[in-house]
Parts: sequence; C-alpha cells; structure tokens
Amino acid sequence: MSKNADPPRYIAVVMDGNGRWAKQRGLKRTQGHEAGAESVRRIVRAASELAIRELTLYAFSTENWSRSRTEVKFLMGLLERQLVEQREEIMEQNVSFSAIGNLSKLPAGVRRELAKTTEMSRRNTGLHARLALSYGGRPEILDAIARLCAENRPRRKITEKQFRKYLYDPAMHDPDLLIRTGGEKRISNFLLWQVSYTELYFTDVLWPDFGKADLEAAIEDYKKRERRFGGL
Ligand code: IPE
Ligand code: IPE
Ligand code: MG
Repeated sequence: MSKNADPPRYIAVVMDGNGRWAKQRGLKRTQGHEAGAESVRRIVRAASELAIRELTLYAFSTENWSRSRTEVKFLMGLLERQLVEQREEIMEQNVSFSAIGNLSKLPAGVRRELAKTTEMSRRNTGLHARLALSYGGRPEILDAIARLCAENRPRRKITEKQFRKYLYDPAMHDPDLLIRTGGEKRISNFLLWQVSYTELYFTDVLWPDFGKADLEAAIEDYKKRERRFGGL
C-alpha cells in the first residue's frame, strides 16, 4: 500500500528567472532582481504561514560571480539594502535568519548586514530562513573535506552523520522538497550533498511571479508523492 508524503518541513528554492521576467516587460535585468527581492519577502511570509520549518533560498551562486561587474555590483547593493529593509519583518514573524556559502567573498557592507540580521534573529523560534550566497555545492563539499583532512580522522570515523558536521550549517537537514522556478531543469550546484533524496519540483513560473499560491501548489504536488528511499 502506498503512503503519501507528510507536508514538507524543509523546502529549498532555486530562485531563477528574474532576468527573463524583466526582458518580457521591456525592463532592465536589474528591475527583475528588484521584483525578485519582493518575491523573497512574500515567500518567507508564506512559508511561515504554511508552517514550514526550514527554507533555504539560492540567491547567488559561486558561478554567478562570472556575470558582468555591473550586475554583480547591483545584486550586492540590492542584497545589502534588502537585509536592512526586511529586518523588521523577519523579527515580527519570529523568523531566524542565517546565510551559507563562501561569505568571505562578499563585500564588507553585505557581510555586516548579514551578521546583524543573523545575530538579532538567532533566538527566534519560527521558520529558519537561510540565504545561499556565493554558494556552490562542490565548494561546500571540498571545504568540508579540507577541514576533515586537517583533523586526520581515521576512515571508520568518517560517517555520513559526521561529515554533515563539516558542511556550512551543521544544523541543516536534507530538504524534503526542492523547487526551481524559471523553467530550467537542473540543480546548478545547489546543495549537492543534501538533495540526495529530495523530491524535485520544476515550474515555468518566473521567480518574480512566484507567490503563495504557487508555493501551495508545489506543496500539494509533494504531498501526493510516495517517498521510498530505496525501500519498497
Ligand atoms: C536568478 O535570476 C537570480 C540570480 C541568479 C542572481 P537570473 O538573473 O538568473 O534570471 P534569468 O535566468 O536570466 O532569467
Ligand atoms: C541558479 O540560477 C543560481 C541562483 C538562482 C542563485 P542561474 O541562472 O545562475 O543558473 P544557470 O546558469 O541557468 O544554471
Ligand atoms: Mg538564471
């Protein structure tokens, strides 16, 4: 007998399609990113309301550093402003915030605002919202291996459970559901270790258009699935 999945506790999102959203409207890519930031605000609120426990949003990949200097600069400025602007709502909604990735590569202003929001919200008990910034799944695994090697652990001590402790956020679970907006069907270096048994959901909706109803549709789709983890 098959059993449908319980509602997801942890959702990860590849927020893609800002540029195409802008292009469709004859706007600049930067305006697409601005609209995308509003979408982040909406989805954090919606996820809290839908009793999701953990949410990781892919905002900037290690590969995104290869975009034009002006686009990268704009994105970093937008991020810094949004961290300040969304702080009050984060606190109001009892959201605990953090960031993962190679954060040392980010501009000082962004790092400062990230640290502020993280520190301020650390005791909040609601949704745990994480931003993946300057994040790559392979770099995350390599960083973990480098730290493990430095400790000279014997092979038998290197279990999956131990290995997790060396990833960027040792408290992170495996996502139950990964959503990618914008129509592409790929992972783009996101959470490679963690998505081993995650359910995948791809939608053509562009990130700036993605709202609560779309999130609910993804959750409904997920709930119909039967998660077998290799068993029967
Ligand atoms: C996602 O939107 C945001 C980032 C990767 C920073 P894109 O900027 O990739 O938008 P498209 O894919 O060009 O439409
Ligand atoms: C994935 O989007 C990264 C983020 C959403 C931050 P991209 O637009 O960078 O992905 P590709 O290049 O189409 O795979
Ligand atoms: Mg894209």
